[in-house]
Amino acid sequence: MIDIHSHVLPHIDDGTRYIQRSITSLARAAQNGVTHVIVTPHHGYKNYHNPREKILDATLRLRLRAKKERIPILIFPGQEVLIHEDMMNGLNTGALCTLADAGQYLLISLPQDTIPSFAMKELSELQRHGVVPVLAHPERHPLIRKDPSWLYTLVQQGIVTQITAPSLLGYSGRRVKRFAIDLIKHDLAHFIASDTHGVGQDRYRMKEAYAIVERHCGTSKAALLKDNSDLLMHCQHILRSEPRVLHTRRGLLNGFA
Ligand SMILES: [Fe+2]
Repeated sequence: MIDIHSHVLPHIDDGTRYIQRSITSLARAAQNGVTHVIVTPHHGYKNYHNPREKILDATLRLRLRAKKERIPILIFPGQEVLIHEDMMNGLNTGALCTLADAGQYLLISLPQDTIPSFAMKELSELQRHGVVPVLAHPERHPLIRKDPSWLYTLVQQGIVTQITAPSLLGYSGRRVKRFAIDLIKHDLAHFIASDTHGVGQDRYRMKEAYAIVERHCGTSKAALLKDNSDLLMHCQHILRSEPRVLHTRRGLLNGFA
């Protein structure tokens, strides 16, 4: 399994604080069946300023330590960028780091409670330059849960999304879990990732998250999501079906965010 979203680089954001905890987290990932991890420190979020060069250096250090500790996981650089204006400039100047530093997919998060008015334009601009935006954990965003039509429009335009394993495991509540499953059923989600912050064994439960997808959405859907992380890692086009409109269920999804 490949994890495309994690916060296991030490001392760099709100993820692991010490390298030994990063190693422990990676060891648990390996036990869970993870073979590749993309480290994605926050950038532009709170006071986190983690430009590409800083991430490349820290990734190399973690790689060397993991090798020394015989952790059977390959570690790649990445970044979780808080959406902002002129992200193309950030890519051109080296501030931003694409997933696996491969230049094709950029992991982007939204502010917690709002969707900036420039979001759609920014995401389209990246696409125009050949970069595929990967929207992190849409299931956790209250405005998307309230009205998924914005997300549907994005996915129709070629933007892809990543569901967080803990959401499927119910860590953010029953309604977030249900919404995450609905997004997958409607082909509005393309990846599952841990988004681990290295704060406990329960955060690395990717295998269990895929099992939940299998149970609710079928084995082929779970396999597709798993394959997509592999394809992303190898700079291939991911597998995707035409998304279907997801209507909110009044009283079930609305108002319970
Ligand atoms: Fe994250």
